[in-house]
Amino acid sequence: MSAPDQYGVVGHPISHSWSPFIHGLFAKQTDQFINYRLYDIAPENFRAQVLEFFSRGGRGLNVTVPHKEAAAELANELTTRADRAGAVNTLIFNSDHTLLGDNTDGHGLVTDLRKNLGLDITNERMLILGAGGATRGVTEPLLALGPTELVIANRTPERAINLASLFSDLGPVRGCGFEDVGDEPFDVIINATAAGLTGSVPNVDSDVIARHTVCYDMSYSKSATPFVSWAIEHGCARAHKGWGMLVEQAAESFTLWRGVRPDTEPVLAALGMK
Ligand code: ATR
Repeated sequence: MSAPDQYGVVGHPISHSWSPFIHGLFAKQTDQFINYRLYDIAPENFRAQVLEFFSRGGRGLNVTVPHKEAAAELANELTTRADRAGAVNTLIFNSDHTLLGDNTDGHGLVTDLRKNLGLDITNERMLILGAGGATRGVTEPLLALGPTELVIANRTPERAINLASLFSDLGPVRGCGFEDVGDEPFDVIINATAAGLTGSVPNVDSDVIARHTVCYDMSYSKSATPFVSWAIEHGCARAHKGWGMLVEQAAESFTLWRGVRPDTEPVLAALGMK
């Protein structure tokens, strides 16, 4: 009997990842013979170990913190969306032995917002907190939704200002510090900072939340995240954790690798999200 095709996710740390569980369910559902593992690789070993994985016959990798920018440099070719983001979360081994880098994070976020959560986010004022790799990956697809304004606010204002300028040809986007977001509440607020990892919330005024505001945390955990608790405390309409984005970006990666699109509903249900 032949061996399963090898896939995995590379990060540092990575032990908390739900990706093997999610891809395992996708493979079962679509009858694909694959193996999906965790690879904890330190930044200094990233290039050598990823190239070794592929030289041993590996077919594809997901890439997470802190390697997304290094993966963009390693890939021989980038899709348009990965090139614009400057970050790769999916590596695909081509038949000509080159590596294609793609970024499925934005697709994952937008699919979760629209399909799973049923939000119509055209013509909305949106605020995204953070200006790191997570924000880079989702800015283009968020602008493609046609917001009236997308404000990127960050603890270090220059990073947000620089990031906004990279995307300014795609729509009304402005970068600033947390103190400069203005007094008007937003329709949608997305947390893309790493603040939750240390149990904190970005230091933005709670006036950004009104009773109609939908809040979304790109982080996920089984209990409420600090951002979700903060948003509910300040009276938002709804607050969601990033489980759906995780599953939807994984489904897009799986589709790129295997040519078959898994149904995400049963996987969201298995995670208790449906
Ligand atoms: P990622 O790839 O996950 O986005 P990153 O590039 O390290 O990781 O970016 C982390 C983001 O979280 C940044 O926007 C960072 O703000 P700075 O640019 O000022 O560093 C933000 N961040 C991290 N801890 C934070 C905190 N306690 N409060 C607010 N923002 C925080």
